[in-house]
Amino acid sequence: MDKLLIAGGTPINGEIRISGAKNATLPMLAAALLASTPIEICNIPHLQDVTTTIELLGLMGAVFTVNDDLNIQIDTSTLTQFSAPYELVKTMRASILVLGPLLARYGKADVSLPGGCAIGSRPINLHIHGLQAMGADITIKNGYIHARTHGRLRGAKILMDQVSVTGTENLIMAATLANGVTIIENAACEPEVTDLIHLLNKMGAEITGVGTTTLTVEGVSTLNGTKYTVLPDRIETGTYLTAGALTGGKVKLKNTDPKILDAVLLKLEEAGAEIDTGVDWIYLDMKGKRPKAVDVCTAPYPAFPTDMQAQFTALNAVAEGSGAITETIFENRFMHVQELQRMGAEINLRGNTAVTKGVKNLTGAPVMATDLRASACLVLAGLAAQGTTIVDRIYHIDRGYECIEEKLQNLGANIKRVSNYTVSDIYSIYG
Ligand code: UD1
Repeated sequence: MDKLLIAGGTPINGEIRISGAKNATLPMLAAALLASTPIEICNIPHLQDVTTTIELLGLMGAVFTVNDDLNIQIDTSTLTQFSAPYELVKTMRASILVLGPLLARYGKADVSLPGGCAIGSRPINLHIHGLQAMGADITIKNGYIHARTHGRLRGAKILMDQVSVTGTENLIMAATLANGVTIIENAACEPEVTDLIHLLNKMGAEITGVGTTTLTVEGVSTLNGTKYTVLPDRIETGTYLTAGALTGGKVKLKNTDPKILDAVLLKLEEAGAEIDTGVDWIYLDMKGKRPKAVDVCTAPYPAFPTDMQAQFTALNAVAEGSGAITETIFENRFMHVQELQRMGAEINLRGNTAVTKGVKNLTGAPVMATDLRASACLVLAGLAAQGTTIVDRIYHIDRGYECIEEKLQNLGANIKRVSNYTVSDIYSIYG
C-alpha cells in the first residue's frame, strides 16, 4: 500500500497550478446521463473519484472519449444498464448522483445504498424524499434503492430540512426533465452546485435563482450536449495556501478563483498571512512567521467549509496561542486529531470542538489517514514537523488531490511516494 514520506520543517516556496474541482466534476459526469447528445467536459482533474465515476457510467454503457486536450467527451445514448452496484458505490458515496438523472431520463434506477462513512452517518433521506415529492416510486430492498416513475417526474415544491450539496444536485438534475416547475428551498449554494447549474443551463435547462438558497427549475423535455469547463478546486487551493501558512512559507497558486474562497482567505489573514489576489491567482506570504491560532466554525457556503476543517486543525497545532475549531456539518470529522496528537499536538476534543494550544514544533511520526481531508491535514502537519512523517493509507488522498507529491515537490517540499520504504528512502527525501 502506498505511503507518503515527508521530511518536514522547512518553509514551502513556489508556484503551482490548481486542478479542476472534484466536487463539480462528479455531478457534471452524472449530468451527462441527462443529455441526448454527447457532452464535453474540460479541466477534469485526474483523481480516483473521477475514475470511479467513469467506471460506473461505463458499466451502464456510456462511451468516453479523451481528446488531445485531455477533455472528456461522454456519450450516454448507448446506455443499457440503469444501476449503480455496491462494489463501486461503497468506494465513493457521490455515486448517488446518478439516481436523479437516471430516474428523470429513463424512468428507472437501482442504486446501492452507500453504507457507512468514516466522518459520520451521512444519510440520503433528503435525496429520496425530494424524488418522492416529484412522483417517484421508491423502495429499498437488499441494500438497494429501487426508483421508478411512470412517465416524466413532476415538478414539486421541496424544502430541504438540512443543506445538502449532493442532495441539492440530485434534485436539480431530476427536476430539469420533470413536467412542470420545481422549487427547491434551503438549497445548497456551494460554488460546485452553481457550476453544475451553469452546465445544465448551457445544456438547455431552465434554472433560476443560481447562487441562492431558492432554486426554481422549469422542466424541459430534452437536454442537449455542450462543452463546459469545470471551475477550479477551492479545497485544493485552500489546502496549498494552508501549507504555505503553517510552514511560514510563500506560495503562488494559478488557475484558481479567489472569489469562491472568501471564508478561508479571511481566516488565513487572521492567522497572519499576507495575501494578494488577481482574477485567477492567489499569492500567500507568511514572511517566515509562525501562524497565529484562529477560531473556526464550519457551516454551509459561504461560511467556512467543513472540507478545510482538518487542514486548519493542523495549522492551529503549530500556531501561536489557542484556537477552537467547531465542526457543525459531520458528527465524526475529527479522526485526524489522534494522529496529530501522536506528532506532539496539544488538542483537547470537547464534543464537536477541537481546542488546540499550538506547539512550536510538531515531531514527525508514522500516521494513518482515515479520510480524504484528514489525510491532507496529516501531510500538512508532516511538512511543518521536525523529522520524518510517514502517512499511511494515502489512497484516501488520491481520491481528491491530483499529483499531490509532484505539486508539493514543485513547492520545494521533501516528499516522496513509496509502497514499501527502507531507511535509505527516509534519508533520500532529505534531498
Ligand atoms: C458534499 C461534498 C463533501 C462536503 C459536503 C459538505 C461532494 C461530492 N461532496 O458531500 O466534500 O464535505 O458536501 O459540504 O460534493 N444529510 C442528511 N440527509 C441527506 C443528505 C445529507 O441528513 O439526505 C446531512 C449529512 O449527514 C451532513 C449534512 O447533511 O450532516 C451535509 O451533507 P451533504 O451536503 O449532503 O454532504 P455530501 O453532499 O455528501
